[in-house]
Amino acid sequence: MFTKEVAVSEKLAIHGGSPVRATPLPPSWHGVAEIGREEEQAVLKVLRERRVFRYMAGENSETLRLEKAFAEFTGHKYGLAVNSGTSAIICALVGAGVGPGDEVIIPGYTYIATAAAVIAAGAVPVIAEIDNSLTLDPADFKRKVTRYTKAVIPVHMRGTPCRMDEVLRIAREHKLAVIEDAAQADGGSYKGRRLGGLGDSGCFSFQMSKTITAGEGGVFVTSDRLTYERGLMAHDSAFSFWKPDESSIRPIPGEGFRISEVSGAIALVQFGRLPSIVERLHRAKYRILERIKDLPGIELQEVPDPQGDASVCLMFFLPAPDKAKEFSDALRAEGIACGTIYNKEIPDRHIYPNWTYVLEKRGRTANWSPWHPSVYKGKAEYSKDMCPRTLEYLGKTVHVGLSQKLTEQDCDDIAGGITKVAKALL
Ligand SMILES: Cc1ncc(COP(=O)(O)O)c(C=O)c1O
Repeated sequence: MFTKEVAVSEKLAIHGGSPVRATPLPPSWHGVAEIGREEEQAVLKVLRERRVFRYMAGENSETLRLEKAFAEFTGHKYGLAVNSGTSAIICALVGAGVGPGDEVIIPGYTYIATAAAVIAAGAVPVIAEIDNSLTLDPADFKRKVTRYTKAVIPVHMRGTPCRMDEVLRIAREHKLAVIEDAAQADGGSYKGRRLGGLGDSGCFSFQMSKTITAGEGGVFVTSDRLTYERGLMAHDSAFSFWKPDESSIRPIPGEGFRISEVSGAIALVQFGRLPSIVERLHRAKYRILERIKDLPGIELQEVPDPQGDASVCLMFFLPAPDKAKEFSDALRAEGIACGTIYNKEIPDRHIYPNWTYVLEKRGRTANWSPWHPSVYKGKAEYSKDMCPRTLEYLGKTVHVGLSQKLTEQDCDDIAGGITKVAKALL
C-alpha cells in the first residue's frame, strides 16, 4: 500500500512536472551528521591531558577502549585500531601470513583500497564476480581458487552482508583465511553474528563517509593470537620497542599505521552511536522497500540477510543500463538523492575496470611488484571485461543514498518518487 498515491499521468519533474520533493533530501553522511558535544568533549579531554599519543595514555587510552569495544562487539578476542581501513586490511593480511607468491580473491565491486591492500602486502589480487547481492559470488570465488590462493576478502559492500555461509564453507574446504572487509558495513550482521566477526579477521574504516567516523581511522579484529601479534608489528615498525612484553614472536618489519589518540577518542564516542544510527537507517530503508517492492519493472538487490543489513543505501536493478540512467535522472529531478553506479563517464574507484594499476600489473618499481616472476608463479590475468556479470549488474543498478535523519515522510516521499518514475518510465 502506498501512503501517497501518485497518479500515473502526473508529469515527471524532469519533463516540467512538479517534483515529489520541493527541497531535495539532505546528503547521506552518517557519522559526520551525528558529531556533537560528546565528540568535542572527548577531543578536548585528550588535548587537555596532553596524551595525544596512544601509548602515553597507558590503560587510560581511549584507543585501547575502542579496540576492546570492537573486539567485544564482533565476538573476537583482539582488536587493533589503526589510521585507516586500508591499514586494517594490510594488518589482517600480514597477520594471516599472506605475502609474495600468494593470491587473494576479492570481488570486482569494492573500493580500490581492498585491491591496493593486497598489493601492499606483496600478494596478487584475483578478481571475482559479484552476483545479485552486489557482493562476492560464492560460485565464482570457488572457481578462482588456485594452489596459490591464501585468503579471500568478502566485502560487505554498501552495508550488504555477503553470503557468508557459502563463503566460509568454500574457504574452509580450501584452507583459506577469511578477511572480512566491513569498511562500509559497521553495525551490520549475518544470521545474528556481527559482520567482521564471522571470518578469521574483520576490518573497519572510520573515514568520513562511513557509518561512524573519526575523519580517518580503522580497526582490525581477530581471535587468533598469532594473527593479532603479526598485525601489531605490521602496524608499527617499532612496536617491539614500545611494547616489548606484548608479543611472543620475533619482530617483523612494520609500517606507520598508528592511530592518533585524538582519532581514537572520536571513534569511541561514535561507536556508542552506532546501534542507533544503524537502527534508524534500517527502519528507513525497509519502510521504503515495503512500499516499492512490488513495482513492475524494478528488481530489488537481494540482501542475503535483510535483518542484518547495515542499510547505508538502497539499490535496485532496471532492465538495462540506459533505463537505469533515465530512471536515475528522473528520480533526481524529483528531489531524491540517487545515481547510477557504473557508467563510462565517471570512472568510479569502486569498480575493477577502473583499477588501472591492477589491470596493468604495475608495482611500485619494476622489481617491487607482486607479479614479478621471481616470486609469483601463478597465472592471474586481468582485462576490463573479465567479470561481465559484475558489469551487467552494476550497469543496471540505481543507488539511492539514505540517511538516519530521514523522517517517515521523507521515506514515503522517496517511495512515492520511485513509484511515480517507475509508473511513467517502465
Ligand atoms: C569497501 C572498502 N574497503 C576499504 C576501504 C578503505 O578504508 P580507508 O579509506 O579508511 O582506508 C574503504 C573506504 O572507503 C571501503 O569502502
